[in-house]
Amino acid sequence: MLRSVKENRRNLSLKEQLDLYGYTFQSNLFGKIEVFTAEPQNLRTIFAADFKNFGVEPMRLFVFGPLLGEGVMTTDGASWAHSRALLQPVFSRTQITDCSAFEIHVTRLIDQLPRDGSTVDLQLLFAKLALDSSSEFLFGESLKLLSATPTSGAQTFWHNYGYAQRGVGRRLQLPRWNVFTRDTKFWDSCAAARKFVEQYVDKALSRHPEKESDRAILAYGLSKITKDRNKIRNQLLNVFLPAHDAIAVLLTNVFFNLARHPDVWSRLREEILELGHDELTFERVKALTFLQYVIKETLRLFPTVGSVGRVALRDTTIPTGGGELGTSSILIRKGDSVRTSFYALHRRKDLYGENAELFDPKRWAKLDPPRWSYLPFGGGPRVCPGQHLGIAETSYAIVRILQTFQGIENRDPVNEFVENYKITTESKNGAKVCLIPVEE
Ligand code: HEM
Repeated sequence: MLRSVKENRRNLSLKEQLDLYGYTFQSNLFGKIEVFTAEPQNLRTIFAADFKNFGVEPMRLFVFGPLLGEGVMTTDGASWAHSRALLQPVFSRTQITDCSAFEIHVTRLIDQLPRDGSTVDLQLLFAKLALDSSSEFLFGESLKLLSATPTSGAQTFWHNYGYAQRGVGRRLQLPRWNVFTRDTKFWDSCAAARKFVEQYVDKALSRHPEKESDRAILAYGLSKITKDRNKIRNQLLNVFLPAHDAIAVLLTNVFFNLARHPDVWSRLREEILELGHDELTFERVKALTFLQYVIKETLRLFPTVGSVGRVALRDTTIPTGGGELGTSSILIRKGDSVRTSFYALHRRKDLYGENAELFDPKRWAKLDPPRWSYLPFGGGPRVCPGQHLGIAETSYAIVRILQTFQGIENRDPVNEFVENYKITTESKNGAKVCLIPVEE
């Protein structure tokens, strides 16, 4: 376990353990009981059927608290339900019609892609794309990291946020040791990131509500409901955490795979070119069948969120994995943890076939995985509220890049995916490619 933390290969090592001990096993690390599972029946219980007994607050509020405070990510019960309800209108309004703001960011990204055969690591550019886009929709102003004139303080904020997020990731893996408590840089980074966001809260609070489209901006929406500065800041930071790199990681992983599967690139490009020169919309790109297979397959093998944890809020049970045969229910005592692995679930041969470890998007033409066996966005009441937005933006960016470039070459000497766990799981080696432009 310590090695997996040190090497940041948490998904892989948890899968190795689940393969070795069975799809549900219990560990006792210095008195801390944790049950690990990649069993659909158990996932259904934890995320939906017995949702109220499996919370996050006892674990997340301590771990994420210094950066996020209280909000949708860190609380349970009535407090969580209140946060989730606050977010709902924003997510349904942005789901998903107007792609004009996103188009500006994608154009800036495409302008920065080299056309001279040189190598580019797409990871960094996708990170900026996700930050530019999510900051606009959350704070009301884009960080504009892809532009020649980024917003003042944006680079420093990005740096601070990254440091704080890595610290939070460590606290999540080793909460008992809490190794970062004495790292003053961690606390300073959290404080600086929070302060940066406060300027947008102040702007939102001093605004006079006007345009209909304002409601699609989370800061403006929240400022109409409450005047509590800290509360708004915390809610913004709570959504910024899952929002700011989700599409960056997904896009990087898609291009990581495309660079290693030229046949998939060609088929995908054929489908995209059939769109012709008509104006792109989120609806049109989401309707591209093979593109959706490519995204689904990427999320299957490389789920952006590889595993999530819950803590039992009361004594309860999960339905299977216990007893001598491994089929009896298991007692989970109040305070014990369960950790679910989407990464291991999505690679189970009994669910996805003997070639489960292979990247093969066309499998989705016939594949209809049983309920609770494919969960890249989680499930139940806490299912990702940003999934439609995430898929729409990812699809849109892929279409625009494949319209502009006719080919891709892998330029990474390491062929296999090496994970870097930081709450989300990114590619340690990025996505180093050469893109071949369309001949004019
Ligand atoms: C496109 C890639 C994305 C993936 C794969 C993804 C995945 C997930 C997963 C697995 C969860 C559940 C975590 C849990 O059960 O504890 C989650 C929660 C969440 N996601 Fe996403 N997400 C994505 C995009 C987004 C975007 C773009 C946003 C916001 C704009 C967002 C906002 C959230 C929020 C606020 C939660 C917490 C929900 C709650 O606890 O009630 N996500 N996401």
